[in-house]
Amino acid sequence: MRTIKIIALAATVIVAGLTIASSATIVGTPHDFSGRLWGTTETCKFCHTPHFAQSVSGAPLWNHQTASGFTYTMYSSQTFKGQNQTQPGAASLLCLSCHDGTVAIDSYANAGAMRSGANFISTTNKIGGGAQHSLTTDHPISFTYDSALATADGALVSPAATNYVDNASATGIPLFGGKMECASCHEPHNDTYGFFLRVNNASSALCTKCHLK
Ligand code: HEC
Ligand code: HEC
Ligand code: HEC
Ligand code: HEC
Repeated sequence: MRTIKIIALAATVIVAGLTIASSATIVGTPHDFSGRLWGTTETCKFCHTPHFAQSVSGAPLWNHQTASGFTYTMYSSQTFKGQNQTQPGAASLLCLSCHDGTVAIDSYANAGAMRSGANFISTTNKIGGGAQHSLTTDHPISFTYDSALATADGALVSPAATNYVDNASATGIPLFGGKMECASCHEPHNDTYGFFLRVNNASSALCTKCHLK
């Protein structure tokens, strides 16, 4: 009886292992902190919670402390034509809540109560300039990307819809409320192509999803 149970258990573990290996998920990527001994083994919890979420308008059930209390300097140039550029939108604010280096990676909430973390992002992955809060040397985000911009630019794909450049599939390029954000290029749960990119960027194929260059 005991032996059968052990065999059955071993089989379950193997099946579970295969399931994880065959579908690209966040498990095992640089965004999987479940094995870091940072207070939980739940992979999603560092970023999302089913209940008691932080109220970050427009963000999906957010459970991480957000960067706040300062203003980011946004991208500009003599040729940039993006309209309605604002401070980072909800989806980008989520990335910056770890990547700008002002909030610890392990500052997430337990039933709404914020835990004070002590582990910060490495220098190579710091985007948004830490104390300077600067996004001036990063690809522009949080501006409207629509057909009018495509016309004004002259060498851009005209977005198919308000929330997609190409199509609504899992491999599509999303827009957020008509705007381009960090997650237009990155898919934080899937590291198949490295750097959490939406598509393989060999021959700059990510860039040419939008730029007709
Ligand atoms: C490191 C942070 C992080 C972790 C960990 C994480 N997510 Fe997310 N998730 C995000 C961010 C940022 C967004 C918003 C950007 C976007 O939509 O891609 C998001 C969006 C989502 C969305 C809504 C948009 C969509 O893609 O459907 C769902 C659902 C979601 N996450 C589920 C999960 C689940 C389930 C887990 C755990 C298995 C998880 N996430 C772990 C960062 C994370
Ligand atoms: C909970 C904190 C957290 C959130 C939220 C988060 N990240 Fe990360 N991200 C990390 C950490 C930690 C690493 C691992 C590297 C390190 O420790 O410096 C990482 C690594 C990365 C990398 C490098 C992966 C590689 O292959 O080297 C990219 C790209 C990235 N994140 C993009 C994003 C984007 C885009 C978002 C939002 C859609 C996001 N991250 C949200 C914490 C976070
Ligand atoms: C236009 C597409 C695009 C946008 C928008 C974008 N990224 Fe990236 N990101 C990339 C590419 C491509 C790489 C891979 C590095 C390379 O090719 O040099 C990368 C790399 C990174 C890395 C790894 C460190 C590095 O620079 O190599 C991090 C972290 C990161 N991005 C976070 C972010 C965050 C946070 C945002 C929003 C503030 C963002 N990205 C917006 C395309 C983008
Ligand atoms: C999701 C669509 C999208 C992707 C993917 C994308 N871009 Fe862009 N990019 C834009 C839009 C829209 C603008 C604003 C164009 C304008 O102002 O005319 C822009 C602006 C730029 C600019 C600044 C233009 C200026 O006048 O200041 C450069 C350079 C650029 N992108 C290069 C890249 C590179 C390189 C990649 C690939 C790593 C890339 N982009 C990926 C949509 C995208």
